[in-house]
Amino acid sequence: MNCYTLLNKLVNGQIQGFITMTQQSAQPAPENSSGTSAQPPAQGQQQKVKVWDISIRLFHWSLAALIGFLWWSGTEGVQMENHVQAGYAVLALISYRIIWGFLGSYHARFINFVRSPFTTLKSVPDVIAVRSDSHYVGHNPVGGWMVVLLILTLLSQGLTGLGTTDDIYTDGPLVAYLDSDMVELLSSLHHQIADLLIALVILHLAAVLYHDAIKRERLIQAMVTGSKNTPTPAEASSFSAKRFLIVVAILSLIGWWLLSSFTGGGY
Ligand code: HEM
Ligand code: HEM
Repeated sequence: MNCYTLLNKLVNGQIQGFITMTQQSAQPAPENSSGTSAQPPAQGQQQKVKVWDISIRLFHWSLAALIGFLWWSGTEGVQMENHVQAGYAVLALISYRIIWGFLGSYHARFINFVRSPFTTLKSVPDVIAVRSDSHYVGHNPVGGWMVVLLILTLLSQGLTGLGTTDDIYTDGPLVAYLDSDMVELLSSLHHQIADLLIALVILHLAAVLYHDAIKRERLIQAMVTGSKNTPTPAEASSFSAKRFLIVVAILSLIGWWLLSSFTGGGY
């Protein structure tokens, strides 16, 4: 067991118990290291497993709404004050998601869905095959890397926004502190990363719709209700109010530190 795994177990206090099958006699089968169920699907047996805790679902749908608004306001150059506010909200959501990726519920934790490049490449045929034997409960290995890419791109977009200006009315809060070359660079990056982001979102939607409509995996429904039907027992994600409060406390400290640094303690 490496240090990271040990730390992860300590933080969470205990490993959550496996969901028992609806039929008493059946033995729970753990997921293997690639996140798939270890046993082949048993014909006709389906059970409900909590995959996405409430905070992941709220994070996701608020993020989608905010990105829609940010894209519209940014490209049209309208409601720029609200654009900046929505940009801060995205930065807060992404910061929450990153910390929740270490302290959060089972399927939210990076360690449970970010796989090695080798495992990810090996999983590609299975992930895209219309019919396959493996059943991923959380993000599949390819989807896991897509999530990491989306999070990093959103973070970069939000951070570059802080040093972006439209040269007319709207300046990010760091513009006053940076030299003009740096502001120009960040503004140009803010435009370019916006294009990358839109490409990733289109790819994300295409993948989700493919899994939903062609592979008949109800991913969208799971992102709404939080639960998935799986043919074999799998680890469940349970929301812990205690861990949520710890993450909120960490975020509040960071927010307070940032505010007092940039306002000189004036607020
Ligand atoms: C992830 C969050 C964000 C997204 C998705 C986003 C998206 C965009 C987009 C699509 C544009 C238009 C780019 C173009 O015309 O090619 C834009 C412009 C702009 N954004 Fe953001 N933005 C975000 C966060 C922020 C933040 C946090 C700030 C400031 C605190 C900010 C400040 C600006 C400014 C000042 C412009 C105008 C630049 C210009 O007109 O040249 N943005 N943003
Ligand atoms: C700008 C729009 C969007 C962004 C930035 C976005 C971003 C993300 C991110 C970061 C995740 C990972 C969730 C996590 O582990 O925390 C995710 C998952 C997911 N998103 Fe989106 N999303 C967007 C729009 C949508 C829309 C419109 C749909 C539905 C049609 C959708 C369906 C899903 C589903 C089903 C998952 C779970 C995928 C899985 O089971 O592996 N997303 N999205």
